[in-house]
Amino acid sequence: MAIRFNRENKVFILDTKTSSYVMKIYDGGYLLNLYYGRKIEGDNVEDFDIRAKNASFSLAAADVGEGDFAPDSAPIEYGCDGAGDFRVSAIKIRNCNGDSVTDLRYLSHEIIDGKPEIKDMPSTYVNGGEKATTLLINMQDAVTGVQVTLKYTVFENHGVMTKSVSVKNCSKNAVYIERAMSLCNDFPKMDWDMITLYGRHYYERHIERRRLAHGLQGIESNKGISSHCHNPFVALVSPNADEEHGEAYGFNLVYSGNFSVAVECDYNDSARLVMGINPNTFTWKLEANEVFDAPEVVCVYSNEGIGEMSRIFHRFYNNNLINGKYKTEKRPILINSWEATYFDINEEKLLDFARSAKELGVEMLVMDDGWFGGRNDDTTSLGDWVVNKEKFPNGLSPFIEQVHSIGLKFGIWFEPEMISPKSELYKAHPDYCVRAEGREPMLGRNQYVLDVSRKEVRDAVWLQIDEILKNNKIDYVKWDFNRYVTDANSVVLPIDRKKEFAHRFILGTYDLMNRLKTNYPDILLESCSGGGGRFDPAMLYYSPQIWTSDNTDAIGRLSIQFGTSLCYPASCMGAHVSDYPRAYYGTKADVALWGSFGYELDPRKLNEEQRKEFKNQIAEYHKYYNLIHFGDLYRTLSPFEEKYKVAWQIVSQDKKECLLTVVCLQERIPENFIYKFKGLDQNAYYKNEEDGKVYSGDFLASVGLNLSNKINYVYGSRKWYFIKVD
Ligand code: DGJ
Repeated sequence: MAIRFNRENKVFILDTKTSSYVMKIYDGGYLLNLYYGRKIEGDNVEDFDIRAKNASFSLAAADVGEGDFAPDSAPIEYGCDGAGDFRVSAIKIRNCNGDSVTDLRYLSHEIIDGKPEIKDMPSTYVNGGEKATTLLINMQDAVTGVQVTLKYTVFENHGVMTKSVSVKNCSKNAVYIERAMSLCNDFPKMDWDMITLYGRHYYERHIERRRLAHGLQGIESNKGISSHCHNPFVALVSPNADEEHGEAYGFNLVYSGNFSVAVECDYNDSARLVMGINPNTFTWKLEANEVFDAPEVVCVYSNEGIGEMSRIFHRFYNNNLINGKYKTEKRPILINSWEATYFDINEEKLLDFARSAKELGVEMLVMDDGWFGGRNDDTTSLGDWVVNKEKFPNGLSPFIEQVHSIGLKFGIWFEPEMISPKSELYKAHPDYCVRAEGREPMLGRNQYVLDVSRKEVRDAVWLQIDEILKNNKIDYVKWDFNRYVTDANSVVLPIDRKKEFAHRFILGTYDLMNRLKTNYPDILLESCSGGGGRFDPAMLYYSPQIWTSDNTDAIGRLSIQFGTSLCYPASCMGAHVSDYPRAYYGTKADVALWGSFGYELDPRKLNEEQRKEFKNQIAEYHKYYNLIHFGDLYRTLSPFEEKYKVAWQIVSQDKKECLLTVVCLQERIPENFIYKFKGLDQNAYYKNEEDGKVYSGDFLASVGLNLSNKINYVYGSRKWYFIKVD
């Protein structure tokens, strides 16, 4: 049983494949967290201690009394605001009396098979044949009547548990949710390193690791989307943890909007982690009987280091988050027009482009920005999703038919949540954009944001997009979002609902993406936000691949892809070979192969030798597709730590194949380079495809391979492919 309840001791035990999570209903109905970590066999319920229960100067609830328990020092499962727990709280509800004291106590629970969906929100799912069990714990505030359901789903085939929360107003009056975090986890010690993924446009998801210190620390987005600057991911790892050793807890919020991650280390030297919708930009009015659902968090525990934490995430996302046709079907290898031509596209040029790409073995042409309205630069036409007749005199359909007759699939670019001030849509509906009363909205890339929190606005933009998709054979959509949200307000929201805007906006985006997903299930969606500004698990639910970064420099990409891979699988990282000058085409391809591979250049400009090289790259893409998309990643030489070389390995889950890629960062490197393999079957034998030599897995792991002098030129790269032999 993945979830057990010991009635006598009132203890819940939740077991994933590799971890256990234990809670207890304590006196007064307080729900306490007793343990989260390596899987424990057996019940052991008697042996769990409640660790710090009280401290001098702490407060006691009248119904429990000043004994050995105080809410401020006990490991409270879901910390409430204003009722004796002074740590960063998980929930704060302003009631009809105007105060925000919230005090949740256990009411009832239920254990059910499977996993309920979260209404209107993307979430992970139980994959056919797998088993998952969900525990629903209902907590109630006795004064306001508000009920909170804490939901825990345990995936038995994975080391994964998901958590989410819903709030129900069982009172007669409206209440205001001022924070409803999706995750609250109390750790008995603060001796952890916190790892987050920070960055900016062109430099997304770089790994940052810091020791926890007393007080509050954390990251957030207030930019309207998850953003380039921080990712809704955090890991707490033991100070000695590396890729192979130590404890690692990883948490990833399935959400694309403003989020917050806060860790507070208190006077007891324990740490509380909360994660969820950013409370700074959120308040939700909940009328009597209404329910509010917070997004879910994916929780992973590994006691085999950070590398295993990542691999658990990767397998889980490939299996239980990414969905639709292209979850399993091979993705077409694409060429995107953007970096080759920018806005300067037309029918003739793109057809020429397509013919040339087809000869190389490319399978899909993606027509990026510039095909609609009067769009020749970034100052106009967002919102006018009508083909530009000067560029495509015959219209879209005949052009797409020609692309198909060349033998390529066809993809198109949209930026649905945006509006240019110079557009027909803006002329007709200036009120459709996100704006605050009496202020000119700020411009970002010369554009405003459409208020997709409003249904009529979503309908208006969907009508146009649907028209294009309905009337043309479109195989792929790139969905972009090129600025952050300012003037965050919907003019139609009543004053006491204004702080619902940020969340309503994201729900609007989900609604639009859902329309695409349900009406056009065969379309491959790639989401994008000026590169990787909205690279989060919620987007993965709709789009099996996400454009990782506008930085297509293979060397810059190394750290971006290393960072991204902390929780996101290779299958979803859009990665293209471009003309960015640093590095050779070979290195660019080797780096892009660790992702959802494609091209971003003008194929007509390649010489014969380069064309041969590209054909070879494409053959490799096909050869390694399954291995790379679904294999296990071992980050062996990290760009965040190494001066000379960066390396990663992908090993198939059955351990039959292994691909090692090494990129050289400097010219004059030490000559002695012995590479020890990770993740191989130590009792098996592997053949090096390059020279046919056979080695035992044990030898490759312990003695290693002498790769000295195999690549000594700056920004050069090499791959080694090993296959198991009988
Ligand atoms: C930003 C994207 O990241 C690029 O790939 C490209 O699609 C441009 N937008 C187009 O405006």
